[in-house]
Amino acid sequence: MACQNCVNRRDFLAKAALAAAAFVVAEGCGDGQIGPTAVTLGSGTTIKLADFPALATVGALVDVGHERAVMRTSATAFVALSKICTHQGCETSVTNNRFECPCHLSVFASDGTVVRGPSTGERISPLPKLSVTVDQAAGTLTIA
Ligand code: FES
Repeated sequence: MACQNCVNRRDFLAKAALAAAAFVVAEGCGDGQIGPTAVTLGSGTTIKLADFPALATVGALVDVGHERAVMRTSATAFVALSKICTHQGCETSVTNNRFECPCHLSVFASDGTVVRGPSTGERISPLPKLSVTVDQAAGTLTIA
């Protein structure tokens, strides 16, 4: 006697493949954003200005490690940015006062704006700015 509500092997595999494809599409769509919606860096870090002589120059973008870069904007002010690419989270390198991503070749200006998007053609967000606290007496920067 044949089962009336049973699914044969071929139908089962076809439905399983369709369900898997639907899951992948749903995961890929998310909230409509391309790349990570939030960049998570390690906890804040404190650096000594004396350890990074290039930070004595206004306008020089300096890799200070810990996935962060810093630029002095005046005698007493600094800007810090994440080095984590907003496309798919690769760590950029600081070269010629800009950020270059090795994964899909995006380039960001020293202020984090997108100069060139990834080779995959998606639109991406600028690099996020991070808060910086300057302790002039101690000669340190604490970067969130
Ligand atoms: S992760 Fe940086 S361009 Fe793709």
